[in-house]
Amino acid sequence: MSKDIRKLVFLIFIFFPPALVNADDPISVGEDVYRRYCIGCHGENGDGNGKASKLLVIKPRNFTTGVFKFKSTPQGALPMDEDLMRSIKQGLPGSSMPAYILVSEIERKAVIEYIKTFSNRWATEIPKTAIAIPAVPEYIGSIESILKGKKAYEDNGCAACHGDNGDGKGPASEELEDMWGNPVKPRNFKKGVYRSGSKPQNLFTVLSTGIEGTPMPAYEDITDDDKWHLISFILGLKGGR
Ligand code: HEC
Ligand code: HEC
Repeated sequence: MSKDIRKLVFLIFIFFPPALVNADDPISVGEDVYRRYCIGCHGENGDGNGKASKLLVIKPRNFTTGVFKFKSTPQGALPMDEDLMRSIKQGLPGSSMPAYILVSEIERKAVIEYIKTFSNRWATEIPKTAIAIPAVPEYIGSIESILKGKKAYEDNGCAACHGDNGDGKGPASEELEDMWGNPVKPRNFKKGVYRSGSKPQNLFTVLSTGIEGTPMPAYEDITDDDKWHLISFILGLKGGR
């Protein structure tokens, strides 16, 4: 190599350092966060087969399929970053997925970018916008609303999976599987613990978008009022026998 060329290579290296040595690159920051906190469950390759996963009844998400369960976008669409952020920040109550409150916002954003590298859906698709959630009505939780919700619960066949009394033990509940081939149980409403949060708005999202990858359907045709009544009914079951 002539002296000039060597100088040129040197300069190129200085001005265009390879991405991996750049500590500000969100993906490499995210990889670091992932290795520290997530790899034990979600696995080296993001396939959900981390060392701890064998011990877990509810399996960690397999990020390679690019399918997520708790999201504000319609069926078939990628989640919004806000959805992933909520799962990471608040955890998924009722499963082993912890709430990472002490991890900084920058690191949480970076790990989201890193998770996206496991599926090429993120390179080829743009998430659809989140569904609109109307203001929570005054009548939520009233006796009248609970009774209307009970009727909507019966009319829409929720009991087949969630059981007549909401304990999650309906006639269809034993056989259910998710798209990753793991058994999945309908939620027991008496416990009042919800993965995506127990505010009426959170449950409104679940009823509208379903839980993708699982048998929990999206109820697009139920009116907004009936969704709120269903929510009054379900939340009223907490602690019941
Ligand atoms: C102790 C095990 C464990 C650790 C550690 C863990 N997770 Fe999870 N994670 C889970 C489980 C279990 C689920 C699936 C819960 C379910 O399907 O209800 C999950 C699901 C998720 C989901 C999917 C939510 C959805 O909508 O489908 C995301 C995103 C996620 N984890 C991110 C992370 C990140 C980022 C870290 C590290 C900062 C992490 N997890 C660490 C167990 C873990
Ligand atoms: C075919 C079976 C099936 C039917 C019918 C069904 N569900 Fe579900 N539902 C499930 C399963 C399975 C889950 C748990 C999925 C998971 O967490 O992986 C679930 C979860 C839920 C959750 C928990 C959301 C969270 O964030 O934790 C709510 C709320 C819910 N269902 C409400 C309803 C209502 C209301 C109806 C009727 C309008 C209904 N479901 C009908 C199977 C069903």
